[in-house]
Amino acid sequence: MNIIKVKNYEAMSKKALELVIHQLNMKKDSTLGLATGSTPVGLYQQLIVAHKNRYISFKDVKTFNLDEYIGLDRNHPESYFSFMNRHLFEHIDISEDNIHLPNNDINRLEEDVKAYNDLLSKNTIDLQILGIGTNGHIGFNEPGTPFEQETFIVDLDMKTREDNARFFDSIDSVPKQAITMGIKNIMKANHILLLASGANKAEAIKKMVDGPVDITHPASVLQLHPNCTVIVDEAAASQL
Ligand code: PGA
Repeated sequence: MNIIKVKNYEAMSKKALELVIHQLNMKKDSTLGLATGSTPVGLYQQLIVAHKNRYISFKDVKTFNLDEYIGLDRNHPESYFSFMNRHLFEHIDISEDNIHLPNNDINRLEEDVKAYNDLLSKNTIDLQILGIGTNGHIGFNEPGTPFEQETFIVDLDMKTREDNARFFDSIDSVPKQAITMGIKNIMKANHILLLASGANKAEAIKKMVDGPVDITHPASVLQLHPNCTVIVDEAAASQL
């Protein structure tokens, strides 16, 4: 693991921007794995600025998102489909055909899981962006998920639902399930870039970096990835 410590959220986002620009300069038709949540929003804002200033184009870029809630319509403002449109896609020159998130049609979930997993098997992600849950999850691979797991329907941890309740009216409105890439899909990426900011992530980062590689802390699997970069701000790195 290559650990880069920076001062704060803004510096984390800027450093991440440099790495994404480097990737796009090396390969303009890169395949990016994208994450939702508060952590990558600053990076997405910087990518939009870089695009508007004509430093980068997404014309030939393909994207695959990590996960999507089950039980929210795609057009619900808190679906990850809406999140990605709002925070990135509608501000850049990406082609709609190149954007991929798991479908979440409750009438055909099993087919949607299989279709997404098939797509991931046929595509190699050049650079996978990840956040980390306070419980150590990556994507929505909650503690206890086997490392061999591929795309699946997950029951969200109470901790995850509590952490995400800030986006909803109440905890009862937070979905109880999601479709997520499995750990095996994530580990297939050529390069993984995990971002973390804030004191509430410090313990999860410590266990990811120094703890045993164990399914009770899913992010610890990244110790086994040959090309994983971690950008942490001072608060998230405070236990390292
Ligand atoms: P956050 O979520 O970026 O909103 O903290 C991270 C995650 O759950 O992976």
